[in-house]
Amino acid sequence: MKIDPFEMERMQSTWENLVDYDMSESGVRPVTLRELVEMGFDLEAAMDVPLGYSQSNGTPQLKERLARIYPGATEGNIEVSNGTSEANYLIALSQLRPGDEVAFEVPNYMQLWGVPRSLGAKVNRFRLRLECGWEPDWDEFARAVNPTTRLVYVSNPNNPTGSVLSDQAMARIVRRCEEVGAWLIADEVYQGAEILRERTKSFWGMSDRVIVTSGLSKAYGIPGVRIGWIVGPPEVVADCWSQHDYLTIGPNKLSDIIARTAVDSRDKLYARARAVLTHNLPIFTGWLESFGGFLSFRPPEAGAIAFVKYRSDLPSLAVAERVRQNQSTLIVPGSQLGMEGYLRIWIGGREEFMREGLRRIGKELRAVLGP
Ligand SMILES: Cc1ncc(COP(=O)(O)O)c(C=O)c1O
Repeated sequence: MKIDPFEMERMQSTWENLVDYDMSESGVRPVTLRELVEMGFDLEAAMDVPLGYSQSNGTPQLKERLARIYPGATEGNIEVSNGTSEANYLIALSQLRPGDEVAFEVPNYMQLWGVPRSLGAKVNRFRLRLECGWEPDWDEFARAVNPTTRLVYVSNPNNPTGSVLSDQAMARIVRRCEEVGAWLIADEVYQGAEILRERTKSFWGMSDRVIVTSGLSKAYGIPGVRIGWIVGPPEVVADCWSQHDYLTIGPNKLSDIIARTAVDSRDKLYARARAVLTHNLPIFTGWLESFGGFLSFRPPEAGAIAFVKYRSDLPSLAVAERVRQNQSTLIVPGSQLGMEGYLRIWIGGREEFMREGLRRIGKELRAVLGP
């Protein structure tokens, strides 16, 4: 199976541990095991757990906790995976056949751009439009979602714009999936990282065509534990489990146990995310405004990321490469998120780290782009 390089992931894997300032992240800065112990994780009990295989589709204890988050869901609606990325992958593997079509929102996390193409599916994009408050271009959407479409993928809140779809937009997307008989994959991994707004509504429950994926990596601040999940109709979940048997069998046993504490402490972790982001966003905005309109953005509603438009024709990859080489600071070029002319910058770190990262980025942007 030939697959295109996942450019952003490869760029991050290559450089994130070598640069001085990794500003390419997208989640709220991670919590430690000690913090989870303070929230109730029983480390002493975990020491005596035999490190055998865990229940491969998630333990009943974890699935039961997750089911409570999604009204009407039972354990049969849930598959626990190694991160949200495996959740997305299992759905693509189990649902797509060569010749199928996938409708893919851009800008986005590009995983389900590459994977469906490797499986012989055609991927049609539809753009979110800044001038429409990052809502979809409905003409493109209508063309992208057609009777051959098997899957429609959105991230909501969106990576990289941090925007949240309106209720009307959500209803419109779901209605179209029903009309053509497509599955909607709603990747909700940034839910809970809202900054100055209420909790993002889930697509769950809007239709039997909805499959939600999510995980601990972003709003919970626990990417290293590698736990994600699928919430979907039982037949889809069963198909995903079959794929899981072949792929990784199941999640890490200790991770499943840690995830129970994380889900029990969801409100606390979400409050932590909000505190970090409401503190950092004004600092970021102040930095951006110092460029006098040369850089602009629509402030993110959720997520630890800012998607910044710059006024120049220089390709975003060339700009990001200069920032890395000359400032030892990593940022994500818009081209690796499906939209040229933008840079994605992390706003989920500690204040002093973020300030120095921004100082370095700013120094290079002034030199490269000459505002
Ligand atoms: C929208 C989206 N989905 C999934 C992932 C991968 O998440 P995980 O670490 O849970 O596999 C990311 C990571 O950036 C993401 O932005």
